[in-house]
Amino acid sequence: MNELALARDAVAGSHHPVVFSGAGLSADSGLPTFRDQGEGFWERHDPHELASVEGFRKDPELVLSWYAMRRRLYAEVEPNPAHLAIASSGMLNITQNVDGLLKRAGVDAARIAHLHGRINHDRCHSGCGHLREVDMKNATQDLGRCPDCGDAMRPDVVWFGEGLPSSQWTRATRWCEEADCLLVVGTSAVVEPAAGLVGFARRNGAVIIDVNPHRVGVEELVDIKVRMGAAEAIPAILGMDAADPSLK
Ligand code: APR
Repeated sequence: MNELALARDAVAGSHHPVVFSGAGLSADSGLPTFRDQGEGFWERHDPHELASVEGFRKDPELVLSWYAMRRRLYAEVEPNPAHLAIASSGMLNITQNVDGLLKRAGVDAARIAHLHGRINHDRCHSGCGHLREVDMKNATQDLGRCPDCGDAMRPDVVWFGEGLPSSQWTRATRWCEEADCLLVVGTSAVVEPAAGLVGFARRNGAVIIDVNPHRVGVEELVDIKVRMGAAEAIPAILGMDAADPSLK
């Protein structure tokens, strides 16, 4: 039996399946990943210059202009068949993605653990708690000052060296304790602590399926390797017909 059929049977036979996703889930929507050869964001930019507290302190305009560009880019794309099939399946989602495409595909916010934040929100850099939603289509670089405490406002995403939102991490670890099948989609699985969830789920008895055209950082933990793109593989694994209008 081929890996796609094995993956479909494993998900169909599971009682607590969970999706764990990275930037590759949104690649088929036209969004760059971070580490793909040639076009990944970190192939062209220094991540510590653009996605770290130090980088923001050194050159806030550079950082905020990069996020404004990403926001406008993300506003222009649509969920792809993989997002839509996941939404139809009702599965729980742990995602490293900040692009909001799972929610736009119809996944309820209570069924998503956003490990690395959400790019469609700004928050106060000091952590006073001020949070606001952003008009992504008209995103600008100037985020102004926090109206509550006066500190700088910044995108509500996790930067290198920062901790993950504790509520989201708690949600993700609880789901990985209960999962009997972890459908890993579109992640290089090299960034901790997120990548550690794969081994954690496996130690709790989950079958690990990996959907990725390339090898991943946790290759030795993967039980079923589906070396395909997400937009083609995920609807098939979830037993949906690619021609299904709900996947368009
Ligand atoms: N379908 C499935 N996977 C794909 C596709 C596709 N169509 N295209 C590319 N991929 C795979 C690549 O092979 C790669 O393994 O998606 C993965 C993307 O890996 P990264 O670019 O490293 O992105 P990700 O794993 O999400 O990065 C994790 O790193 O920089 C931080 O915060 C950032 O959340 C991000 C984290």
